[in-house]
Amino acid sequence: MKTIDELLQDGVEGKRVFVRADLNVPLDGTTITDDGRIRAVAPTIAKLAAAGAKVIVASHLGRPKGAPDPRFSLAPAATRLGEILGKQVTFATDTVGDSAKATVAALANGEVTLLENLRFNAGETSKDDAERGAFADALAELADIYVGDGFGAVHRKHASVFDLPARLPHAAGDLIATEVGVLKKLTEDVARPYVVVLGGAKVSDKLGVIDNLLEKADRILIGGGMSYTFLKAKGHEVGISLLQEDQIPVCLEYLARAEKRGVEFVLPVDVLVSADFPDLKTKAPANPELVASDAIPADKEGLDIGPKTRELYASKLADAGTVFWNGPMGVFEHPDYANGTKAVAQGLLDSSAFTVVGGGDSAAAVRLLGFDENAFGHISTGGGASLEYLEGKTLPGLAALED
Ligand code: 3PG
Repeated sequence: MKTIDELLQDGVEGKRVFVRADLNVPLDGTTITDDGRIRAVAPTIAKLAAAGAKVIVASHLGRPKGAPDPRFSLAPAATRLGEILGKQVTFATDTVGDSAKATVAALANGEVTLLENLRFNAGETSKDDAERGAFADALAELADIYVGDGFGAVHRKHASVFDLPARLPHAAGDLIATEVGVLKKLTEDVARPYVVVLGGAKVSDKLGVIDNLLEKADRILIGGGMSYTFLKAKGHEVGISLLQEDQIPVCLEYLARAEKRGVEFVLPVDVLVSADFPDLKTKAPANPELVASDAIPADKEGLDIGPKTRELYASKLADAGTVFWNGPMGVFEHPDYANGTKAVAQGLLDSSAFTVVGGGDSAAAVRLLGFDENAFGHISTGGGASLEYLEGKTLPGLAALED
């Protein structure tokens, strides 16, 4: 993979450089609630601009259906990127149309523009190679060089991630280089014990990575919505908690494999439950009830791990050499159900391990719960991307930058 610094040695002054970023940030209306992904890619953009490139930044936001949808406009990200860079970032109101062409044509050396959401064009995510290719052709017209730095999207075989780099001279941005370096370390060179903490809603999203980690990790701690399918697999009542009944057989297989391989596979011993899902907007008191994880009442839903589990997980993290954490332990957006996620974050900080927080909700949780992100070894910008990397899959957006 060619690096940005090698690209700069070749010279980028006056060149139109297309930077595929992942600016898929959480929004409340038009307010960005966590700008971590914008801050993470800003150094690459700043470096290119400082070297005199005309920088064209592009990204997706959310999952619009291949047509413009104002709820998913990247306009707020242009403003925030401008604030972070300390310079104006112009905004094109389309992706390859008149606005994009005019905005790019107006760029002077060292200036930056952001295109509207790439997923407003159906070609971006199309499964049809020709349709994706046609969109990539149109994007290629806008630029002379491609820089891939949207780590959070490298697991997507999308036009701007996979097809466009094949059409332009290309390099990997600094964010991708850092992310890949850290994840490589987790697959090739781990200090033990290697402890993995997995949470989040769906067990089906994590099966691939568990499959792989059963061969590599020493301990796997499970929390969040996905834990209830494992608890059910062990024969416990889970009430109205999140459950993926069809995944029970594979959960049972993994529990058996963990035992056979001597991997500690740890499930919650107590949980906070309620008959009502908390109101995340008003944050009104939610009156959680504490129960043992094998005694969840039939009419209640598990919403966080309980205090005994918090203590147990902290003890399992204390002597770790390496920790990878992906997915919250409960509904951390509500203060009554945030303590499990906080305890895991604190457990990472209290250990002397090399700690990696794997993207998405867990990265946002760390920041929203007020932890100092610099205290962690690495906070990935990629949720699905980091999981798929650890699964050992070939990621289209990385493969495209290789040759
Ligand atoms: C993410 O949020 O994980 C990335 O931005 C990818 O988004 P996607 O899952 O909608 O492709």
